[in-house]
Amino acid sequence: MRNIQIALTKGRLEKHVIPLFERIGIDCKELKDKGRKLVFRSKNSNISFILVKAVDVVTYVEHGIADMGVVGKDILLEYENDVYEMVDLEVGCCKICVASTLSYRPNGYNKKRIATKYPNITSAYFRKKGEDVEIIKIEGSVEIAPLLGLADAIIDIVETGQTLKENGLLLFEEVCDISARLIVNKASLKMKKDGIFNVINRIESAVAEKK
Ligand code: PRP
Repeated sequence: MRNIQIALTKGRLEKHVIPLFERIGIDCKELKDKGRKLVFRSKNSNISFILVKAVDVVTYVEHGIADMGVVGKDILLEYENDVYEMVDLEVGCCKICVASTLSYRPNGYNKKRIATKYPNITSAYFRKKGEDVEIIKIEGSVEIAPLLGLADAIIDIVETGQTLKENGLLLFEEVCDISARLIVNKASLKMKKDGIFNVINRIESAVAEKK
């Protein structure tokens, strides 16, 4: 059977996604004891994994280097892409939210400055609300932006709420729900149809079993 390459994200999703692949019988031992390695071949299947940054999962899948990938819905919403989104894996669940300090006035009349890693999601959200905002793109530790006066509020991911809490921020609005999605390269779905559907079907059953 032809090799199927799957791109996974380093970090947040890893701990949720590896057990899912283990449950469908794919050996992930090397992936779990990985050290600094970034490419792994499963010992008992035709599957290999690459570990890359979330946004690069889409790039590798779009270019067909990886046949499949697992990435958060936030990335699919934020970055234009040309891949098939096949399965909601129902792990890595969190929300994109508007958060700020107690003094934030969501219905105030002044033009707001919003700090975020997600400028496209942010502009779509406020456009839908009919509000013109200034968006300040930052790359991480978003929660400190309203504390230091860089922005009036943030749009960011909230999972446990711990980061908001520890930085004295409150959740004001929920923008959308996020979870990990299985994506597939369009050409691979034709060329490696049987192998890819074999993985998809087993993953879908594993997701359903968890319910
Ligand atoms: C994300 C997000 C929040 C935090 C939310 O950051 O941007 O800061 O996790 O999680 P919680 O609600 O469970 O506290 P991430 O850890 O991905 O790091 P980053 O700040 O470098 O983007």
